[in-house]
Amino acid sequence: MSRTPSHRREAEPEFHKLAKARFLDGVRQSLALSHFPPAMLVESGTLYGDRVAMALDVFEFIWTIELSEEFFSRACKRFENEDRVACMKGDSGEVLRRFLKCSSPLFFVCDAHSCFMGVDKPDRKYVATSFPLWKELETISQRRGVTDIVWVDDRHNMNRTADWLERHNKSPEWVDVTYDSLRKAVSSREILAAQRVNNAYVMVIQ
Ligand SMILES: C[S@@+](CC[C@H](N)C(=O)[O-])C[C@H]1O[C@@H](n2cnc3c(N)ncnc32)[C@H](O)[C@@H]1O
Repeated sequence: MSRTPSHRREAEPEFHKLAKARFLDGVRQSLALSHFPPAMLVESGTLYGDRVAMALDVFEFIWTIELSEEFFSRACKRFENEDRVACMKGDSGEVLRRFLKCSSPLFFVCDAHSCFMGVDKPDRKYVATSFPLWKELETISQRRGVTDIVWVDDRHNMNRTADWLERHNKSPEWVDVTYDSLRKAVSSREILAAQRVNNAYVMVIQ
């Protein structure tokens, strides 16, 4: 039997509609920050592929990277008939190296970390994994000759104390994530813009 409370089950379509509207609004704000708005998105952390499905409204092509075999397989199945999505399996920091030679501007969404399995999913267990954000940014910062947008998701976890993170999010690795440390992590490229957008911190780098 589903453990999702009935009020939440009823609210699910509304929840997704709002989440999608909010994400796409943030994407449009971010694209407006760049003179070379990317047409392709690269996401780290696929989970159920919900964000991929949302991004299809805006982007021509989406790559999504997932470490977990279970979530990777589910996403492959979900998008098997969608020729604008490619699911990639592996550690995001490593897999992102495949984009080093891509000369098109890319919209990176960094969202790989430990998490609860979807706020609206019935079996809402905590999946503890790695925290690849710094490796991802190191890899992204090696790209040259192109203007990219980097969306670091979950701004609500940034600038928090270890104590808060341990209680609310169980992932104290976030304690080192600040707007300053994010900008520093990509500082081998020129930062053209950096600002908060919805629940993300967004940087345009060339
Ligand atoms: C917050 S969820 C992603 C949610 C998804 N982007 C969405 O909006 O629907 C984080 C995901 O990152 C994955 N993950 C954690 N570490 C990873 C790594 N090193 N490489 C790739 N994926 C990773 C987890 O398995 C989990 O599915």
